Amino acid sequence: MTLAWSEELSVGNAMIDSEHKNLIVLVNNLEHAIRAGDRSALPQAFEQLEHHLCTHFINEEKIAQAIKFHFTSNQLEHISVLKSLRFIRDAVVSMPAHKGVLAEDVAEHYSHFLSNWLTNHVIKEDMLMKPMLQAHPYDFNPG
Ligand SMILES: [Fe+2]
Ligand SMILES: [Fe+2]
Repeated sequence: MTLAWSEELSVGNAMIDSEHKNLIVLVNNLEHAIRAGDRSALPQAFEQLEHHLCTHFINEEKIAQAIKFHFTSNQLEHISVLKSLRFIRDAVVSMPAHKGVLAEDVAEHYSHFLSNWLTNHVIKEDMLMKPMLQAHPYDFNPG
């Protein structure tokens, strides 16, 4: 499933929205590399996603603190997805490929998990910040 960003995913802040858009691109890239069993692209795709997730989580937390949003439950999901992402990376990278292609059901399972997590997290957790974010300018950035 290819994810796409749409207005309904906007949480009312330019920085968070643009990072979410970028994360969607990276999840789609990773899904593509997993499906293709492209071993040369896989480590970089995992690394890029992990790097941008970490940066995003730090920025999101800074913004949440600046608007005095209670961030604990959001943060727990961040910690848990990073753990899952590392588990998936180790599982996928060490998986034997048949004719260069990883098992379709495994690719399906992991790409589903990542795209579902991202969409659900944005809709259920990040979106809770929207009313408080909307009390600030769209380009609010505490720096
Ligand atoms: Fe979040
Ligand atoms: Fe987020």
